[in-house]
Amino acid sequence: MEQGGVGLSFSEAIEQAGDVFHRFPLLEVRGVPLMEPIALNWDSVAAFTPHPSDLLISTYPKAGTTWTQEIVDLLLNNGDADVSKRAPITVRIPFLEIFSPPPIPSGLDLLKEMAPPRVIKTHLPFQLVPEGFWENKCKVIYVARNAKDNLVSYYHFDRMNLTQPEPGPWDGYIHKFMKGNLGWGSWYDHVKGYWREREKKNILYLFYEDMKENPRREIVRIMEYLGLGLSDDVIERVVQLTSFKVMKDNPMANYSFMPKPVFDQSISNFMRKGEVGDWANHFTPEQARMFDEDYAEQMKDTDIPFRSSI
Ligand code: A3P
Repeated sequence: MEQGGVGLSFSEAIEQAGDVFHRFPLLEVRGVPLMEPIALNWDSVAAFTPHPSDLLISTYPKAGTTWTQEIVDLLLNNGDADVSKRAPITVRIPFLEIFSPPPIPSGLDLLKEMAPPRVIKTHLPFQLVPEGFWENKCKVIYVARNAKDNLVSYYHFDRMNLTQPEPGPWDGYIHKFMKGNLGWGSWYDHVKGYWREREKKNILYLFYEDMKENPRREIVRIMEYLGLGLSDDVIERVVQLTSFKVMKDNPMANYSFMPKPVFDQSISNFMRKGEVGDWANHFTPEQARMFDEDYAEQMKDTDIPFRSSI
């Protein structure tokens, strides 16, 4: 499995990197906690200049990034499943700010090897997105997910992602989320930051819940934003190929390519449940009450129409 132009497979690169993976601490960049390797390489991330034809997919972690990446890649390739299986999703759509120990290529290494127009993934909050994206008027798709489901998904992800800080007990994790003490910072600031700027910056602001409710409708919105006019058959194929069930079995999308020292899927699957409302299986009534009260306070200055059930 080639990793961009660097010639090593991901597994080979991990082997050569040696025993370097661990739960990296978080370090703040302009007040936002980021994984240590990202913070230590921040200047080169901030200096990245995209081409005006590049497209950015931005999310708070666990809001439906991979799903949206797969939809976009298929739309850009006329719904051709073979083309979209050409490489792991991390290679097809590089993760702008990610840095791993050498010789594992960083997101910036992969991007250097690709000719525009490129599709780029980020979890950076609005204020940390490299200025070049706005100067060059790049298209940006933002996906937001309701706070409680996003939190649940992040909790299970932090259990299995052995490069992120230990999640600790569930109850404490809820408080970390409320305070923004997780990688990429506060969910509340993240969703509000892009919401405020969506019209000025021509950001397509989508909701995970809308995608679950009517995937076809949201896929058509993405297609139109990309300026594509695909046939009904192709759109239908994209809907099918990006269903949870199909993506869960797609080795180029389900992160089974990520070695166990990084993602230990025996703890929790990357493609875990893919549902709206799973929070109700995790929060006690008391935890939900406390969370909702704090939520009302943190979100009182915005009118983002989140839904935690459909
Ligand atoms: P759960 O943990 O709730 O199952 P990201 O890609 O941003 O890391 O988000 C991962 C979340 O999106 C996981 O949520 C995953 O199951 C869900 N997901 C991925 N592909 C999906 C799809 N095709 N349909 C619905 N949910 C999907």
